Amino acid sequence: MAKKFFHIAIDGPVAAGKGTVSKLVAQRLGFLYVDTGAMYRVAAYLAQQNQVAYTEEQKIVDLIKSSKIEMRTPLADPVKPSQKSKSIVSEQDGRLITVLLNGEDISWKIRTEEISQGASKVSVLPKVRKILVEKQQKIAHGQNVVMEGRDITYRVLPKADLKIFLTADVRERAKRRLLQLQLKGLDASLQEILQEIKERDTRDMNRKTDPLKIVPEAWKLDTTQLAIEKVVGKIVDKTKKMKTHNQK
Ligand code: DC
Repeated sequence: MAKKFFHIAIDGPVAAGKGTVSKLVAQRLGFLYVDTGAMYRVAAYLAQQNQVAYTEEQKIVDLIKSSKIEMRTPLADPVKPSQKSKSIVSEQDGRLITVLLNGEDISWKIRTEEISQGASKVSVLPKVRKILVEKQQKIAHGQNVVMEGRDITYRVLPKADLKIFLTADVRERAKRRLLQLQLKGLDASLQEILQEIKERDTRDMNRKTDPLKIVPEAWKLDTTQLAIEKVVGKIVDKTKKMKTHNQK
């Protein structure tokens, strides 16, 4: 009989803690963590670097097709970021994943405010979604994954073993994002962040193709009052129970 792999699909709005939770769950279970938002960020980055408007669907698809996009767990030991580079850097700098574009480490370049808005804009384009969804399905094929995004529970992995909708109150999400920025030494106001999060949420939930939504079978976890460790523990426990049950 073919080996059955376990797929955990996590959807939720901006800054609900999906990345941190998914990464920790994956570490605890020995699964691969897949950040699909990073792929939409790469698409936006490609557009920006090539002076292509975020609305130019075919050009963005062509850019994605002609690029080598790699995502991996940050390396434990310091590395040379590219063949040309003379310096040695550590990937253990707080990032959740390492993203390479044609061999260049762009993990932090895709986390700017400009690219956050750009990713939200390119993600409304159906052809961009189609090509990225196919890539995501290929990654999940044949391995245990924790995959997070906006359409994972019903489009990318509709047959996922465990489906989760992770959310939190919008002010709480804005406060967490502000804290993350402050820790990186960046300046922003709560009001600005709140506004930005609301804009992205609205775009994510109202786009025609595959908007963010809660599927009826999803386990809804609200992290407003729940510490990240607690949320991680709940998901890990449930997965272990389900795996034991499936083996019986
Ligand atoms: O999760 P994130 O903030 O890194 O995602 C960036 C943008 O990509 C977000 O505004 C919505 C979009 N996205 C999407 O449409 N579908 C996904 N599966 C993941 C992200």
